[in-house]
Amino acid sequence: MSGVASAPEIEEIKVRALRELDAIEQVGGLDEWRVTFLGRRSELTQVLRGVSSLPPDDRRSVGGAANRAKGLLEQSLAEREQALNEAGLSTALDSEAIDVTLPGWPASSGGLHPTTRTLREICEIFASMGFQVMEGPEVEWDRYNFEMLNIPKHHPARDMFNSFWIDYTDEDGEHPMVLRTHTSPMQARVMEKTRPPVRVVVPGKSFRYEATDPTHEWHFFQIEGLAVDKGITFADMKGTLFELARRLFGQERQIRFRCDYFPFVEPGVDMSIDCFACNGNGCRICGRTGWIEIMGAGMVHPNVLEAVGYDSSIYTGFACGMGVERIAMLKHGIEDIRLFYSNDLRFLRQF
Ligand code: FA5
Repeated sequence: MSGVASAPEIEEIKVRALRELDAIEQVGGLDEWRVTFLGRRSELTQVLRGVSSLPPDDRRSVGGAANRAKGLLEQSLAEREQALNEAGLSTALDSEAIDVTLPGWPASSGGLHPTTRTLREICEIFASMGFQVMEGPEVEWDRYNFEMLNIPKHHPARDMFNSFWIDYTDEDGEHPMVLRTHTSPMQARVMEKTRPPVRVVVPGKSFRYEATDPTHEWHFFQIEGLAVDKGITFADMKGTLFELARRLFGQERQIRFRCDYFPFVEPGVDMSIDCFACNGNGCRICGRTGWIEIMGAGMVHPNVLEAVGYDSSIYTGFACGMGVERIAMLKHGIEDIRLFYSNDLRFLRQF
């Protein structure tokens, strides 16, 4: 169109523009419309540019009509943009709406590890008999892991425990440390800090530098038991451990003590229960012996009592140490200790 137009032509542009605007469904389409009908090269802009060349009589009417049309189109554009934005928002809200009445996703809950279950069960049995539950360090001084337990340096009994050594050095020199090979060092630590009567159980991790097989791990849990007072006898130990075995494995269980050697007890024993699977007749689980060994125990050695400042002519006591995984294996018929720490959910989900 040339720069000159009549009022009806302006009206025609306006009507056409409004019709096309109405047909636009997406905000993205509005810009093209704006360029076409309000841009620098649009018909209306051309009309406005040509107004000055009109005869004076037409200038006012054509200029006025063109300006009103421009104003109306600008306003209609803004209204259309707002309407489209609102429509888009409500569509999005509708499609993303959350139905709060729907049932939620079931939360998948974990379970307690079989070692933890067994450990808690044993600690609860001891606690019901008046024992306190305590924990101690997993990295231990040579002094507590061995020396205070009547195992001096270079003593052959150290060969009973294949150890992970750490050399800790400070300005005073080198101090041998070890990943504790058993929970027994806590015997010395507890007695050093308290006076009799002492009745504690100590659950915790132990570490041994040894090859793994179905009954040996290089890290495993033990529970140490210790009772020291005036007049504690071997009979107290038997009674306590008998009660523990029956509560863990059933009222009909029998127990057996055999001589064993641990430098920190005298006399020392290992304790077995009659096999719960075959009632002592001999089967695969008990290695056809009818008995299953579950712990080492004994009367606390006088040297250990003296090392912590207890008078061994006044006080006596018993100590015991059991492997938690081995007990869990017996309770649940688990054939390989390595299953406990292989993170295999097919195994763990069974507990
Ligand atoms: C000891 O560790 C002594 N401290 C126990 C003790 C305490 C005796 C107090 C007397 C008085 P032993 O090395 O036998 O003893 O280990 C005790 C138990 O730990 C074993 O019966 C077994 O159940 C468990 N155990 C030992 N080595 C391993 C291993 N490599 N893997 C899994 N369990 C083990």
